[in-house]
Amino acid sequence: MPEDLLIIKGTKEDQYKNLVPQIAAIIEGETDLIANLANIAAALKEQFDWLWVGFYLVKNNELVVGPFQGPVACTRIKKGKGVCGTSWEQEKTLIIEDVEHFPGHISCSSLSKSEIVVPVIKNNEVVAVLDCDSSLLDDFDETDKFYLEEIIAGINFNE
Ligand code: SME
Repeated sequence: MPEDLLIIKGTKEDQYKNLVPQIAAIIEGETDLIANLANIAAALKEQFDWLWVGFYLVKNNELVVGPFQGPVACTRIKKGKGVCGTSWEQEKTLIIEDVEHFPGHISCSSLSKSEIVVPVIKNNEVVAVLDCDSSLLDDFDETDKFYLEEIIAGINFNE
């Protein structure tokens, strides 16, 4: 795997186009799931410098926090609760322009203003979610959805 991440400036699309192959190279050939999730969270944090980026893993019918970058976060989230639990329940990516307008949003940091949550679906079941939080309002859009879903699709959850 490459030792250093090449970080670029430019449009959001440019940044993802530069980052996605690097993430693929980092996780390629590595079978340890936690190692791969940790490096994906680190790579996204390094490129985009969001407030919080990481994974919640489905364990015993609850989301439990997994590898992440950012401030300490709530440990467990139930299905249907918060943005993460709602994305899990609805099995779809949720883009929240202003977290204050999302009923039931779970605030792990008062600095968080907008959020995107992408479910990881394997064998027709949600096994995890990727959660990204920004300190800017309306920071996530369809471009993030497209590329984050592409990154998620490349993860092998079948170890
Ligand atoms: N805001 C999330 C909780 C997780 S933290 O933001 C890291 C939610 O509403 O589900």
